[in-house]
Amino acid sequence: VHYPFEPFRIKMVEPIHLIDRQTRESLLREAGYNVFALKARDVLVDLLTDSGTGAMSHIQWGAMMQGDESYAGAASYFRLSETIHSIFGFQHFVPTHQGRAAENILSALLVKPGLFVPSNMHFDTTDANIRARGGRPTNLVIDEAFIPSSMHPFKGNMDLCKLKSFIDHTGPENIPLGMITVTNNAGGGQPVSMENLHGVAEIYRSHGIPFFIDACRYAENSYFIQQREPGYQDRSILDIAREMFSLADGATMSAKKDAIVNIGGFLAMNDEELYRRACNELILREGFPTYGGLAGRDLEAIAVGLQEGIDETYLAYRVKQTAYLAGRLKELGIPIMDPPGGHAVYIDAGAFLPHIPPSEFPGQSLVVELYIEGGIRGVEIGSVMFAHSDPETGAMIHPKLEMVRLAIPRRVYTQSHLDHVVNTFKLIAENRDSMRGYRMTYAPELLRHFTARFEPI
Ligand code: F0G
Repeated sequence: VHYPFEPFRIKMVEPIHLIDRQTRESLLREAGYNVFALKARDVLVDLLTDSGTGAMSHIQWGAMMQGDESYAGAASYFRLSETIHSIFGFQHFVPTHQGRAAENILSALLVKPGLFVPSNMHFDTTDANIRARGGRPTNLVIDEAFIPSSMHPFKGNMDLCKLKSFIDHTGPENIPLGMITVTNNAGGGQPVSMENLHGVAEIYRSHGIPFFIDACRYAENSYFIQQREPGYQDRSILDIAREMFSLADGATMSAKKDAIVNIGGFLAMNDEELYRRACNELILREGFPTYGGLAGRDLEAIAVGLQEGIDETYLAYRVKQTAYLAGRLKELGIPIMDPPGGHAVYIDAGAFLPHIPPSEFPGQSLVVELYIEGGIRGVEIGSVMFAHSDPETGAMIHPKLEMVRLAIPRRVYTQSHLDHVVNTFKLIAENRDSMRGYRMTYAPELLRHFTARFEPI
């Protein structure tokens, strides 16, 4: 497997350390076996998330020095506005402190108790923001999304038949908005094809349902379209992104992903009336519409990062780096979600640890082992994150896959860091039969994975 050439050199470094195994064991015990409760300095290779953890460029840092910190009408806002307009094309936008703040505003304005919001798959914060308003997030991704070995090039696609019959069954009047997540983070970071986006947009439009794209990883999605979808090989990433967003009525964006910043996001839309209401909601909770919970310097970093995030040389490196880790793990026989996504490698923990049932969290068991064995921090994307009780029957519903995500921060780690992950998996695979399941000893109602506590069974 080939490691891609990094299209950058390193100008600033941050030391990392491997603390000894005994200390790792006791720290994890104190953390209730939840890696979110660890101190970052006690982690060697941190693959918890690709969100806000990227390395900014010298151009982004330079732009930050030019941040205009005026309360209203700052120049930085207008620079960001121009960039957003040129890529996304929506008529209006409000900056937010991150993606979930955009989701909160959208849910506050549109979702009412008992209403449904379909998507391919909602990510955890979107799911929770809809539920927090009494709504019902509904996932309608194609079936291939749940077959880790399926090589379908666009496993993030919405199942258009399911979407149509869902709308017929539910009634469009009970669907205040429809969404799609690009790439599908809850389902292996898999892309959505342009053909599918056209289909989804057409179905929503014909029923008068506003269409919002969860756009955090739109640049990676655009790159996959260019690489895999017939007819797009000669189109630029910018051009592909513009076509994607021209199909929608708006977007929620966490700039912490494909805009390569440490904090920030926005909510964009065409509808002027919705924009006015969003501004009022923003002023109440985030800030004045020309800064929305961010500093002027943050707006500058996003404006530059959006451009860097759609650079093809960068995107080719990014996707190949992820494919390298995936390929090396496959060589070891570790079951992964194929083909690898853009921002992360997803391990099929259910298949890796068949002796641990979903109710005992095989993914959590693997996350714990990765830290104990190699000081690596990953995240469970399975029953810890997504199992919930059915609002009607109260029965526990488990997700179809028990996965562990190794998310790769942008422009941060090199080959030797990823090789350390591969070597750690070698050791873990040898002892997998002795790995045990976990029992939850504490969990809040929503977004429980962040603060849950566990004990080994
Ligand atoms: N939508 C998707 C698809 C996401 O992956 C995330 C965040 C959000 C929305 C919310 O954005 O964090 O800026 O509020 N995902 C991070 C992750 C946390 O680790 O995947 P946010």
